[in-house]
Amino acid sequence: MEVNLSLGRTQFGNSAHIGNVLTEVEALELLNAWVANERLRLHMKQVGAVMKAWALEREKLPETEAHKWLLAGVLHDADWEKHPEGHCRIIIEELESRQIDPAIIQCIASHGPRYFGVEPQTIMDKMIYVFDELSGFIHAAALIRPTRYEGMDVKSILKKLKTPAFAAQVSREDIQDAISRIDTQLEEIIAFIIQNQKDVQ
Ligand SMILES: [Fe+2]
Repeated sequence: MEVNLSLGRTQFGNSAHIGNVLTEVEALELLNAWVANERLRLHMKQVGAVMKAWALEREKLPETEAHKWLLAGVLHDADWEKHPEGHCRIIIEELESRQIDPAIIQCIASHGPRYFGVEPQTIMDKMIYVFDELSGFIHAAALIRPTRYEGMDVKSILKKLKTPAFAAQVSREDIQDAISRIDTQLEEIIAFIIQNQKDVQ
């Protein structure tokens, strides 16, 4: 059964709360309290690490801004395990009640436009959409390799993307849609993800 996850709104958080963030420790505490599944926790930490690295290295943002990218990544699926029917809405409401910076909340709301009905606006929004599915896909590919990430190349990932049976739940259509919204090629994104998530634990 398809659950309707549409958020029914496009404004999140409050501009009076710009600059209010959780520390990384607080975000990980929330993650550990809300998510029991080790692999899902790792997925969120990987997306967080890749988001932060992109903000620093590619967008040349200061540490305080890159920290918001990290938090959006680390928390984007926090409610998925316990509340699949309220996925995205629950974590958004939690962060709004904690008066967290609206950019973080809007970014989380943007990670699946087809599901949540929110179009990515900022580069931060667009990048979480790009990284989310691809990060999980690349990790699935690492898990079936004896040497995991070591020696993994972009070409093998491209080949798996063209193999519908591999990680069939990952929507190739969403990946294409996400990539079409940014100026960077898929190959470069894959290389960046491999580089920045391989050592996350
Ligand atoms: Fe995710």
